[in-house]
Amino acid sequence: MAKSRIIVDCDPGVDDAIALLLAFASPDEIEIVGITTVNGNVSLPLTTRNALRITAMAGRQDIPVYAGCSRPIMPGHPREPSVHGLDGLGDLGVADATHAAEHQHAVDFIIDTVLREPGQITLCPIGPLTNIALALIKEPAIADKIKSIVLMGGAVFSPGNTATDAEFNIWIDPHAAQIVLSSGIPITMFGLDVTRHATLTKERFDRLERDATPIMKTAIAMMRYYGGGDPSLHDPCVTAFLIDPDLFKGVDATIDVDCDPKGAYGRTRATLVKSGASKGQPVCHVITEVDDERLFQLIDRRLRLL
Ligand code: BDR
Ligand code: CA
Repeated sequence: MAKSRIIVDCDPGVDDAIALLLAFASPDEIEIVGITTVNGNVSLPLTTRNALRITAMAGRQDIPVYAGCSRPIMPGHPREPSVHGLDGLGDLGVADATHAAEHQHAVDFIIDTVLREPGQITLCPIGPLTNIALALIKEPAIADKIKSIVLMGGAVFSPGNTATDAEFNIWIDPHAAQIVLSSGIPITMFGLDVTRHATLTKERFDRLERDATPIMKTAIAMMRYYGGGDPSLHDPCVTAFLIDPDLFKGVDATIDVDCDPKGAYGRTRATLVKSGASKGQPVCHVITEVDDERLFQLIDRRLRLL
């Protein structure tokens, strides 16, 4: 399998942090060309600070971090306390980085990178899709130059986690999600349908804790804080897929996002299509199943390498 060259677009966020650490620990399968940050779990200054803190913690200051959009396309909802803590990384006092974010805006970094390497870059959004949507609006020519998008977001066959029918990343910026999901770019979607099965259990914590390295100890403390409110490791499913796609199974569908504030705002509605039978339509591969035992074995094995 060829190594994926990726941009991780994120809002760290504890599970975003674990997704990044898993990618750092997998250099044979994944090369991160840049990390872009977006408003989401916490405000943009905090998601950027956290991306820098995670790269510093893992000694990966060589990976550039670019700050992106500080609000959704349409005025958003008031921020509420979340499972990620006030600082976004479980309020554990994770050390601040001594390096800074790049000066270029995340949207311009995405555009420039894709134009420079047509067909080579996979985008991995694991937060609200604002940066990706704005990149597509600012430079539509990138759409057929992006190799693929592997994203965490949505809830197609299962209930939401933020509103009755809406998953958090889509609910924060449904307009951006609609732009991305109708773009025609090949998309693999990890929604709550699958990520709800990536559950942190007592046995899995016990296994991670055995002979844990210093970085793992911090990761486990973050996950313990977060797991008190949300037992699912959503975002690491995206980076795990790039390491071992056979862990997952899905179906093909076209996706529409409800953007009506009076409707099921943020809901992702699917129309199933037969594989290969949908010429011209923007089809998304909606992941529905995971071998969760093997997924957690992978996370455990890889985090030990950091
Ligand atoms: C998604 O929302 C955030 O809280 C997580 O980081 C994840 O990306 C799950 O709904
Ligand atoms: Ca996230």
